[in-house]
Amino acid sequence: MKDLIRKLVEAWGPSGFEHQVRELIRNEVEGLADEIRVDALGNLICRVGKAKKNGLKIMVAAHMDEIGLMVSHIDRDGFLRFTNIGGLLQNTLFGNRVKFENGVIGTIGVEHGLTNRQRNPSMTGFFVDVSESVESNADIKVGDAAILWRTMDERGSRLIAKSIDNRISCAVSIETMKRLKKSPHEVYFVFTVQEEVGSRGAQVAAYGIEPDLGLAVDVTSTGDVPKTVNMDVELGKGVAIKVMDVKHIVPPEIKKWMVDTAEKHKIPYQLEVLTLGTTDSETMQLARAGVPCGTVSIPTRYVHSVSETVDYNDVLASVDLLTALLSNPVKNAHPV
Ligand code: CO
Ligand code: ZN
Repeated sequence: MKDLIRKLVEAWGPSGFEHQVRELIRNEVEGLADEIRVDALGNLICRVGKAKKNGLKIMVAAHMDEIGLMVSHIDRDGFLRFTNIGGLLQNTLFGNRVKFENGVIGTIGVEHGLTNRQRNPSMTGFFVDVSESVESNADIKVGDAAILWRTMDERGSRLIAKSIDNRISCAVSIETMKRLKKSPHEVYFVFTVQEEVGSRGAQVAAYGIEPDLGLAVDVTSTGDVPKTVNMDVELGKGVAIKVMDVKHIVPPEIKKWMVDTAEKHKIPYQLEVLTLGTTDSETMQLARAGVPCGTVSIPTRYVHSVSETVDYNDVLASVDLLTALLSNPVKNAHPV
């Protein structure tokens, strides 16, 4: 599974420009689904099985986009000014490298360079250098999008990479598709677009699929690094089951179903209460007349940096939980 993770996290696909990563995922899931299609916004929708007696229509959403930036202006000397695509953090920028769709690597500088000691200089003070020589700059235009670029590294059971948010969940979904042998459900594995700019892909995919139940798979923050939010989730302590985030209160029946399943299958789990951020279940729950939703979360340190860090054992626990949830009939997942 690590080879698959590496391929996914090193792929290029900022929100709205997911075509490369979609192609990569499509190649991985070909043969694992009964039907594959791409909808009008670019979501990759993979149906597995047909609902049987006791079966539901379940949508599993893992977003395939990543945060990035877009060129908004090129100055006379050829330096690129940019705006953010999604939750780009200023303190991750200086000295970092970006990658454009055509493969060009840019370097991020900041006005006043080394004399700039501000902790969070404003986004407008940064620029991308794509010079190739004294006379020439690489071929980049206003409107071109880029990602922050870094390859994956391993340290013990830790995996360190860019866009672990949320390619790690794409890997979890694909691995679950491989493992899902017998299910009473009609499962729609959806690799969604534009989560990082407000879960736009999941919204239309859920409208089209009309699921009885939705599950998002995404990363969540942890409370186990110095001076951070009060949060119970730790790296290496198992898959996190969401209870609440900023835009989603998980129905108690869904939370109970997920917790009971984890306990029954002896899968290590933790409860997630996230006070910063949300995910695809935010819009999935509001599709049409409403969809009860839960979220399988992978604990991740340094979210939205190029060194997002997960523990591989948590990733495996996430696959175990998602597979167990989808393999058995769902009792009492609807509010009564
Ligand atoms: Co994110
Ligand atoms: Zn995410």
